[in-house]
Amino acid sequence: MIRSASLCKASPGFGLGLRTPHYPDFQCQRQPLDWLEIITDNFLVEGGRPLLMLEAMRRDYPLAMHGVAMSIGSADGLDLAYLQKVKGLAHRIEPLWVSDHLCWSGLGKTMLHDLNPLPYTEEAARRVIAHIKQAQDILQRRLVIENVSSYVDFAHSGATEWEFLHHVATQADCLLLVDVNNIYVSSVNHGFDPQHYLDALPRDRVQQIHLAGHSRHPTHIIDTHDHPVCEEVWALYAAACRRLGPVATMIERDDHIPPLPELLAEMDIARAIAKENIALAAVEKAASPEGKWQPTQLPNRSLASAPAETGLSAVVSTVVSAGASPPGLLQLQTDWLAYVLTDPPDANAPARLGLNGVSGLGLGLDSDSSQGAADSPAERLCIYHRAYRLRLCEVLSESFEKTSSYMGSVLFDQEASQFVVQQPPAGRNLGRYGSNLPAFLAQRYPDNPELAELAQLDWDLRTRFDWANHPALSAADLAPQANGHLAFIDMPQPLHPSVVLRDSRTNAIKLWRAIDDDVDVPEVAYLPKEDEANGPPGLIVWRWNLQPHFMRLDPAQYRFMQSLAEGWSINQSSERWADTDVLPTPEVLGAWLKDWLAQGILRLG
Ligand SMILES: [Fe+2]
Repeated sequence: MIRSASLCKASPGFGLGLRTPHYPDFQCQRQPLDWLEIITDNFLVEGGRPLLMLEAMRRDYPLAMHGVAMSIGSADGLDLAYLQKVKGLAHRIEPLWVSDHLCWSGLGKTMLHDLNPLPYTEEAARRVIAHIKQAQDILQRRLVIENVSSYVDFAHSGATEWEFLHHVATQADCLLLVDVNNIYVSSVNHGFDPQHYLDALPRDRVQQIHLAGHSRHPTHIIDTHDHPVCEEVWALYAAACRRLGPVATMIERDDHIPPLPELLAEMDIARAIAKENIALAAVEKAASPEGKWQPTQLPNRSLASAPAETGLSAVVSTVVSAGASPPGLLQLQTDWLAYVLTDPPDANAPARLGLNGVSGLGLGLDSDSSQGAADSPAERLCIYHRAYRLRLCEVLSESFEKTSSYMGSVLFDQEASQFVVQQPPAGRNLGRYGSNLPAFLAQRYPDNPELAELAQLDWDLRTRFDWANHPALSAADLAPQANGHLAFIDMPQPLHPSVVLRDSRTNAIKLWRAIDDDVDVPEVAYLPKEDEANGPPGLIVWRWNLQPHFMRLDPAQYRFMQSLAEGWSINQSSERWADTDVLPTPEVLGAWLKDWLAQGILRLG
């Protein structure tokens, strides 16, 4: 067990969630930020530009690692391989701290890639505490756990969220990332007083604060992180500063990301609020007869106060003795998973999951929602059902950008939705979701093979981007032996590890380039089968100098290169294809090799 005299690191000040649109701002000049938070999962990759960028950032700023896929509340245990990857990244960048969420995201091999809520029960608490301890032992550091927003409430929860959080943090000996926006969102959705939540936080364990925006709907709020911080959240942050003192604070924006100066201006507001309220708290503390901090009373709230230090057992036993038969954690998560994956949504799921009726306060909510009211447990649960599909379709549309553009976003989204239902994610890396979409499109559109080829090209380019680094062989590396022999022609499997070869029977490359150049897309063209006497033409995709590349190969070059991919050396392949149309004249073979050396297609070592 990890112990130290001081639970939290001293606040490094004010930071920002690092997002790709802002990379150029950070490359241009030092920004007025004390630290940055990265999304851990975006950097659990083998190599390429993302890790280089990360190392450059690390030279200029302290970094905190914030993960979204640890699934600390999963009923079936932690993914140890994932944790080892997180540990490896932490070893690489020596972060300020490592955080993830108090939630569950998947079960077994299926990942929903959402921050799903937990019931606040003894069983869930035991499971989460055990997982946090296990993760801390592996990571060799205290984990920082963040509260999530939620839209549903389990009837068999025996404690409030803040009681549960306090209990877990103290029993697991972990630290907390307090998302003030999430507290506000849940307070509106469930009808509790956010001040009670703040009052219950164990002050010595709050390592970080998130500030963010959300989307307002007539009867609920969704934690979309796509708006500026609202007045209510600023007010809650002010109260948090008075309660907690200096805590590392950052703005978390995940969508509709504005220019960096806008977020820096929001950070300035946070700085000013923190300065004013920490000073105010010091004055109040000096003036208080007991010299202690006094909870701030928010106006117009008359909800019953919940004690911060309440254990879970008493309340849970009350619920159980009332005759309810709540689902165990594994059953609940199994049912939830089935609900989210099934179309249309099962109307009986809220009862099966033991959801409470909705008791949101509806505090001044707007009435401009395009999604309609969510005023029943079924409607609230459906938020998760919709979000799952939207998120995965969005990921597919990003990974298959040219395919989506070629098909049109409406048709692509229809197909993506079908794909999501048929093939749920099986891995923690959301960026690797969609590897089977080309095969799916090939099956759905047998008369339009260009769709699958285009999708495969999108996918191969996407996956080459963060492929493992490996040096390429160049002409400068060639040192003839005494007899003039070049050793590289005897090297087995001489292709660069990032090389992938594909059959190409359509003009998908031309389609892709036209879309990329934003010019008129040519008519699709197919290679007649009868023209395949020497095999189909092919295409090669690889990464060279951090940039994914591709080019078309004629049938002979394609078959020769396939031999190399199978493990043959250049010499062996030459012997294999001697006296056939595949092996070209020595001059042409020499030109191929020169070309491959010049474009980083062969590996060094
Ligand atoms: Fe957050």
